[in-house]
Amino acid sequence: MDICHVPGRFPVSTLRFGHVPQNPGLPRSQTSPYWPYVAAAGGSRSETDPSGPTYRNRMFFLGMGFVAQFFAQELKNQGWVVSGTCTSILKKNELGEMGFDMYLFDANEPELVILLPSTLEIMKYHTHVVVSIPPVVGIGDPVLQHKELLRSSLTDGGNLQWLCYLSSTSVYGDCGGAWVDEDYPTSPASELANLRLIAEKRWLSLGDDLGLSTQIFRLGGIYGPGRSAVDTIIKQGALSEGQKMRAYRKFTSRIHVEDISQALTASIHLPSRRRVYNIVDDDPAPREEVFAYASDLIEKKWPGRIKQSASQSESLIGKGSRRGKKRVSNARMKKELGVRLLHPSYRSGLQSIINHMEEAL
Ligand SMILES: NC(=O)c1ccc[n+]([C@@H]2O[C@H](COP(=O)([O-])OP(=O)(O)OC[C@H]3O[C@@H](n4cnc5c(N)ncnc54)[C@H](OP(=O)(O)O)[C@@H]3O)[C@@H](O)[C@H]2O)c1
Repeated sequence: MDICHVPGRFPVSTLRFGHVPQNPGLPRSQTSPYWPYVAAAGGSRSETDPSGPTYRNRMFFLGMGFVAQFFAQELKNQGWVVSGTCTSILKKNELGEMGFDMYLFDANEPELVILLPSTLEIMKYHTHVVVSIPPVVGIGDPVLQHKELLRSSLTDGGNLQWLCYLSSTSVYGDCGGAWVDEDYPTSPASELANLRLIAEKRWLSLGDDLGLSTQIFRLGGIYGPGRSAVDTIIKQGALSEGQKMRAYRKFTSRIHVEDISQALTASIHLPSRRRVYNIVDDDPAPREEVFAYASDLIEKKWPGRIKQSASQSESLIGKGSRRGKKRVSNARMKKELGVRLLHPSYRSGLQSIINHMEEAL
């Protein structure tokens, strides 16, 4: 199903308050740009602030992690109200000081799980939701284990219209190095990947039940400022055991956090129903190649200051796992969401990261 081809990227700045395009697939009442906001009982500062705008785009992140924080900042800069969950009071306070309305939720902590009903009551008065909490072995999706609570809390009233579940390309499993699009059969090769796939289906189902525009983003390896091969080499100088194992997964797909943000932005403009998108760059590449490139960049910027170069690290790599080989196609993301990647390859992504680094060694 082709939704629309819109050339060019979508800067977040084009997301104006209340600007939600009409989508013929959704009931009119759920695409209106002027839904009234109703303050929730016990709502946080901005929700009860009488001086704030009555009608606003409001994003709620279930899990204010790396991607969420990056996108949250972009949205906030454009005037969105942004809220989310995290698992620690320290982080709640830090993000609160940055202007986000934060709520505690940790699926592993029963005393925080009991806060979920009140958090959902707040969440339902947001217009958009991004789910970025990963599955937990033995639990599954930490939020969906309370699916009936979600359904009962979110069914009546509220402003929710759009939901995106951040998934992973791990759901495809090992494809023998083949190119993999969204119609390629899924074959998760680990328990976590299997839980991902189950979570995808259940979020799509809940989205249907609630009448939301629901999309799944299958992300490649996420990198960006503060989390990249450059940062790893600077911080530790050598690869961890887990990283050594991953080094043998040829054709690892990855995606810069800026490009995830612009894909999310594009999807908000072009909400879909039950659409799955691979969110990866154009250049699936072996991890050792990426680390060698990062090492060269660091050597050029700070000659002789790496404790241990990537090439030395490579020599430490033993025979490792070859699971998960695939090259993930982003054709649908480009065609339907009109995304033009800022970082089509790890090369430009890493270059941009190091360009913005101050003296780091
Ligand atoms: N890293 C990758 O390369 C990669 C690749 C593909 C897909 N993904 C997935 O894409 C999504 C976004 O990635 P990301 O890197 O932004 O994730 P991230 O930084 O690890 O953030 C995950 C968020 O989930 C919260 N969380 C974790 N366990 C939880 C639990 N048991 N109960 C409640 N909340 C919990 C964390 O809380 P705190 O903020 O308190 O820590 C955090 O806010 C994640 O689901 C991730 O697994 C990641």
